[in-house]
Amino acid sequence: MDAVTPTQVAVVGMSYWGPNLARNFDRIEGSELRWACDLDESLLAGHHAGFPRTRFTTSLDEVLADPATDAVVIATPVPTHAALALKAIQAGKHVFVEKPLALTTADARAVAGAAEAAGVTCMVDHLLVLHPGVTKVKELVDTGHLGEVLYVYGNRLNLGIVRQDENALWSLGPHDISVMLHLVGQRAVEVSATGACYLQPGVEDVVFGRILFENGVIGHLHLSWLDPHKMRRMTVIGSERMVVFDDMESERKVTVYDKGPVPRTGEYGEYIQVRSGDIFSPKIDTAEPLRLVCQHFLDCVRTGATPVADGWAGLATVEILEAMDRSLAENGRPVTLEVASR
Ligand SMILES: NC(=O)c1ccc[n+]([C@@H]2O[C@H](COP(=O)([O-])OP(=O)(O)OC[C@H]3O[C@@H](n4cnc5c(N)ncnc54)[C@H](O)[C@@H]3O)[C@@H](O)[C@H]2O)c1
Repeated sequence: MDAVTPTQVAVVGMSYWGPNLARNFDRIEGSELRWACDLDESLLAGHHAGFPRTRFTTSLDEVLADPATDAVVIATPVPTHAALALKAIQAGKHVFVEKPLALTTADARAVAGAAEAAGVTCMVDHLLVLHPGVTKVKELVDTGHLGEVLYVYGNRLNLGIVRQDENALWSLGPHDISVMLHLVGQRAVEVSATGACYLQPGVEDVVFGRILFENGVIGHLHLSWLDPHKMRRMTVIGSERMVVFDDMESERKVTVYDKGPVPRTGEYGEYIQVRSGDIFSPKIDTAEPLRLVCQHFLDCVRTGATPVADGWAGLATVEILEAMDRSLAENGRPVTLEVASR
């Protein structure tokens, strides 16, 4: 592929989320939406007018048999992600997989490993990792502006959407877990989670999760679809400053608080002092995060660069989800994560 040959993309799963991806891959320069695929023919018919240059099919095999198809975007239900991704990889296609990469660590590892062995790009839609607000927070962490990161917590709350086939952890958690892994830059060594099922037996509506990272940083998650607040927030507490990423804010997505503890002088009996300084909101690019994600995938396909959210990053998130699910079932028992992530 060169600068003048657009990447030929197929989107599989054209229900609720798939069309958002299809729209981006159709419009971004350097890519063409060659195929839209769904098992439901009537659903596809509704998209003919919106994508006049696209071929429509109910058969993934037809998409994969087309030598012109470069990349397959998987926006089907989560239980199907791993099998469809593996099929596409075996056909030599680059893959973009919706979050979470798979339902089990074993499946996620299989996909990441197969993509690596085949030399194709594998990216997971950890949308927020490429959000300009999160990129700013990552810069503040990496440059040491916050001092030493002490702990991180995420709030992802709303009234609905209530899912029946997955709990609040699997539905909402991949976003916050992938962002925490990205910001902290360390592997998780232990997790625990508690939650409760109010609306349906066996499906947690609210989950409180805890992640212990290798460097001692603690991450806390509050996930719920049974809450009066609509919150999409991540807070990082540093030894020198604190920062909040709030995706519900239109202008002030990131706020830096020049607040923190005053270093102790070591005198006996002194009080621990805190200081409260300026509050500052840096300008954040308003680009649509999903567009950035699609553009990043296309760039990686074209250059062979490793995506920020590659298959292994997808695996790390699934490992935490799976271990938290186990902890949920055991009333919050801490679960240790295996050392080898690959
Ligand atoms: N990144 C985000 O913020 C975000 C938001 C919403 C949904 N999602 C993800 O997007 C994916 C799809 O979500 P949705 O709500 O649109 O799901 P959905 O269940 O509404 O639709 C899935 C579609 O996939 C089709 N499908 C299933 N198996 C297929 C196959 N083998 N071949 C072709 N088509 C097949 C179904 O017919 C259906 O139309 C999920 O993985 C979900 O987690 C991500």
